[in-house]
Amino acid sequence: MTRPEHLDLPPLIGAAGQVRLPGSKSISNRLLLLAALAEGVTELPGLLDSDDTQVMLQALRALGVRIDGQPGDAPHPPRVHGCGGAFAGRAADLFLGNAGTAVRPLTAALALLGGRYTLRGVPRMHQRPIGDLVDALRAIGCAIDYLGEPGYPPLAIGAGRPQLRQPLRVRGDVSSQFLSALLLSLPLLHADQDIEVQVEGELISRPYVELTLALLARFGVRVRNHAWQRFTIPAGSRLRSPGRLQVEGDASSASYFLAAGVLGALHGQGGPLRVLGVDASSMQGDVEFARVLERLGARMQWGEGWIESCGLQPGRARLTGGDIDCRAIPDAAMTLAVTALFAEAPTRLRGIGSWRVKETDRIHAMHTELRKLGARVESGDDWLQVWPLAEADWRSASIHTYDDHRMAMCFSLASFGPADIRIEDPGCVAKTFPAYFDRFAAVARPVPVLAIDGPTASGKGTLAARVAAALGWRLLDSGVLYRATALQALRLQVALDDEPRLAALAAALPIAWREGTVLLDGQDVTRELRSEQVGSAASAIATLPRLRQALLALQRAQRRAPGLVADGRDMGSVVFPDARLKVFLTAGPATRAQRRYKQLISQGISTTIETVLRDLQARDTRDASRSVAALAAAQDALPLDNAQIDVDATAERVLQWWRERS
Ligand code: DC
Repeated sequence: MTRPEHLDLPPLIGAAGQVRLPGSKSISNRLLLLAALAEGVTELPGLLDSDDTQVMLQALRALGVRIDGQPGDAPHPPRVHGCGGAFAGRAADLFLGNAGTAVRPLTAALALLGGRYTLRGVPRMHQRPIGDLVDALRAIGCAIDYLGEPGYPPLAIGAGRPQLRQPLRVRGDVSSQFLSALLLSLPLLHADQDIEVQVEGELISRPYVELTLALLARFGVRVRNHAWQRFTIPAGSRLRSPGRLQVEGDASSASYFLAAGVLGALHGQGGPLRVLGVDASSMQGDVEFARVLERLGARMQWGEGWIESCGLQPGRARLTGGDIDCRAIPDAAMTLAVTALFAEAPTRLRGIGSWRVKETDRIHAMHTELRKLGARVESGDDWLQVWPLAEADWRSASIHTYDDHRMAMCFSLASFGPADIRIEDPGCVAKTFPAYFDRFAAVARPVPVLAIDGPTASGKGTLAARVAAALGWRLLDSGVLYRATALQALRLQVALDDEPRLAALAAALPIAWREGTVLLDGQDVTRELRSEQVGSAASAIATLPRLRQALLALQRAQRRAPGLVADGRDMGSVVFPDARLKVFLTAGPATRAQRRYKQLISQGISTTIETVLRDLQARDTRDASRSVAALAAAQDALPLDNAQIDVDATAERVLQWWRERS
């Protein structure tokens, strides 16, 4: 299946509802390995179904482990038949994608067991360091060779003879996964003496080590932690299946929804947004993210099996910024880099050195993409500082995601800002959360659009202005964009059938709105746009597909909080297909001709009712028969014939429909 190139996110004013989280990646892959190595059968309900867990499942199967069922099949959760300490497959060539949670622990387990194995991954995996783990294992007699650059996968593992005469030493300041990998695998040695592991350098990401210890305990191995410096695996430890273990929801994935519930508060709609599957008793360090949000001014509620994000604390208009030590929440901290755009003061994320060796160099990636939005950003080896972005400084951007699921998920939150956000390669979320964008869309509240389409002189303009004023929303008279392009073409003497040049004019239209007037190149052209000459030129160029395409972005950019009333010909059918209410306004040609006639006479323009009727019918035909965005009611539009009712009554009808919808 090909992955979509990009996803355009509508601007948001809130997020509310509830989301069941997918299983935790960190827990899922640790449990799969432990269950595979243990004695007995382990059932794992809630196991995550994603690229990273599939990589681990395939590797374990290749090593001869029997696993019944598939993750994601709720009535039949996966059942792992433990190998009791020795894989049946003594030789295998394993492809492990970009899953750090598979490569590191499998390297340790296979090196300790010995055999003939190769471990490979995607090119990025071959840039992610593993030397500290290999050094620790080689020092006790394991046989591991680098097949490429020393210090990095791919690796070849042979039959070594691990000896435990002195403590193992492992560095803890690059990735805590090296220590976790050792702790998960060393019980395989069934040693009759205590096994000591000494950490060198300051241990980072401690909550992930805590998670490892908690899961080992479920398999009967109680590791003693000596102040994060030294760990002891007691003599006689063996991994024994606990039978059945429910996998918690993913706390890192929760961070996007918890943040969304808060950011909605900036538009007056802060949650409540409840995530199901994690709570205060979670063994995952990233639940601390919710506490960090609370310290920054967010309001959270905690219950059994859930956390709910309820916007901001009373009296707060924004999150505070500040200096945040992120060592305990390395993954969820990425979410803070985006919420920082909406804070009241700069946010400095400290202790994030491990970002450099993740799916991508996340400090570099975050820095680059936040800058695209217009933000001021500074960064160093292990820190990132983000300044709040003022409303006027936001820029629409296409966000590159570096094949990093968290980049894609984090930047979905930028859609709370006043800019258009495009997420490139959104499918990269499959690494840990394949359904992310569907779940996000299900709780997101886009800026509402009320689309009013109809033929010429149907009274759309007047109606749209009334409705926009009543709701306090922005107004888009899309015909003005076609008229302004036509005027620009007439001024620059561009032929009205020169599609490429007209499309280029439209794409760079120097249009602005100020206090009810329309400016073109800084000059007030409000009256000129209404002339018959400009009107008929607009009608002619409006048939050109590339020009219409070029005006799309400009029209969509008008969708800003708190809402937009858009009038035109194709607002509900093409420009805003997700508009919450679509009205198709009509009246018979005779009625419309009468209205237009009166309007022209009142402007001192002399004409006859017959001429007006003929012009109007010609324009109707052209608008209805063109090849793109022909005038036609969207399927879900409500028809409204206003021949017999006045403007007030028409507006009241539309507002009544709106109230019923919302
Ligand atoms: O609504 P109006 O008369 O200002 O529009 C001017 C021309 O632009 C009209 O002939 C049709 C075209 N138009 C369009 O094709 N699509 C729109 N959404 C708005 C206007």
